[in-house]
Amino acid sequence: MKILVTGGAGFIGSALIRFLRARQLAEVVNVDALTYAGNPESLPGLDMDPGYWFEKVDIRDRAALERVFRDHRPDAVMHLAAESHVDRSILGPEVFVDTNVVGTQNLLAVAREYGSSLDDRSDGPAAAPAATGQAYPLPPGPAVASPRERFRFHHISTDEVYGDLPLEAPAFTESTPYAPSSPYAASKAASDHLVRAWHRTYGLPVVVTNCSNNYGPYQFPEKLIPLMILNAMAGKPLPLYGDGGQIRDWLHVEDHAEALWVVLQRGEVGRTYNIGGDAERTNRQVVEAICDMLDARRGQAAGGGSGSHRDLIQYVADRPGHDRRYAIDSRRIQSELGWRPAHSFEAGLRETIQWYIDHPQWVQRVQSGAYREWIEANYAGRETTSASIGRG
Ligand code: NAD
Ligand code: DAU
Repeated sequence: MKILVTGGAGFIGSALIRFLRARQLAEVVNVDALTYAGNPESLPGLDMDPGYWFEKVDIRDRAALERVFRDHRPDAVMHLAAESHVDRSILGPEVFVDTNVVGTQNLLAVAREYGSSLDDRSDGPAAAPAATGQAYPLPPGPAVASPRERFRFHHISTDEVYGDLPLEAPAFTESTPYAPSSPYAASKAASDHLVRAWHRTYGLPVVVTNCSNNYGPYQFPEKLIPLMILNAMAGKPLPLYGDGGQIRDWLHVEDHAEALWVVLQRGEVGRTYNIGGDAERTNRQVVEAICDMLDARRGQAAGGGSGSHRDLIQYVADRPGHDRRYAIDSRRIQSELGWRPAHSFEAGLRETIQWYIDHPQWVQRVQSGAYREWIEANYAGRETTSASIGRG
């Protein structure tokens, strides 16, 4: 099987490719424009892998996409390329519409044309489903036949399309109405609608997944967890928006990669699957956990140190339109497809901190001039609020 992955040099895309290639589950064509968020160094060793190809292509460039499909003839598309950071979408929404909406439409159009050109004759019985390395058994696969019937377009989306969840409300299900709040979430919602429309109108064989907040190795340090780990390690302020009481559900990126593979293999065409980590935490809890884990490490190190990393926490002006809570009900993927997360949040967070400690060169390279300009643009205008408990 050959999979065309878009956005494979980003945080989740690179985890997916490392997952697929480490287990030899599929050959991979990585289509990525290498924006600020794309980093080939997140795919160590893959340049030597004969089952991996990289195409530096923008999904908004239709002719280039057509050429990639013609050259590589993939069996499936897993679409992750996107502008993904909410704060950037607030400061500059245009590129979010361009890439997430127009780019997705472009990819759908090319995939549809390509999919309908595939052979519709059976080439024998379906192969047995590949093992994923997890202990739970996968249900038997459907007896798919021709390359055209086997073709899939897997659209990777977010729980943010469902909008702000009241504190007492049950978690998002696959039928929760869409109510996106930020320009990012609105652009992802629009792309989800396009994907569903391409299925219903043109019969494109799609599956859609909506996932909660990912964390883990190789995450660009504009997002909460890597930003807080690196700032705390450097003794810099830890900027919590508003009162820090917003709730997110956290999933380790390797669990997400496995869920995506399971959905591609076993998911029902036209169906949506919510993916979550069953780990709701307030932002304050997340940042305090990072501080406590770093304190414990320092305490164990020779010479120790004084003061707590918690002293670096500063409450700053809130994100406009900030959603208070997201939570995912992932019973569908668990009961129908047999997937469940393998990492506990605390163990995954500890392992992630260790990864950032162990990879100073990766960190140093992504914290380039452009990164520093972003930090300045996003945080300089946010005054520290009276809720601040920072002493530094
Ligand atoms: P990311 O920002 O780390 O990576 C995005 C990748 O897409 C980068 O490699 C970038 O170079 C590439 N890209 C951007 N614009 C492109 C274009 N026009 N053409 C080709 N490539 C382009 O994002 P991520 O966090 O890895 O998220 C991947 C996907 O998963 C996104 O669609 C996002 O909406 C979704 N998602 C993310 C999370 C999360 O917590 N990070 C959760 C749920 C869903
Ligand atoms: O829910 C899934 C989404 O999770 C994905 O679709 C997005 O691509 C991904 O970026 C993420 O969006 P969030 O906005 O939830 O993630 P972020 O890491 O930016 O912020 C997490 C929470 O932490 C959010 O409530 C805002 C808060 N925050 C964030 C930063 C960067 C802070 O308090 N301070 C900060 O400096």
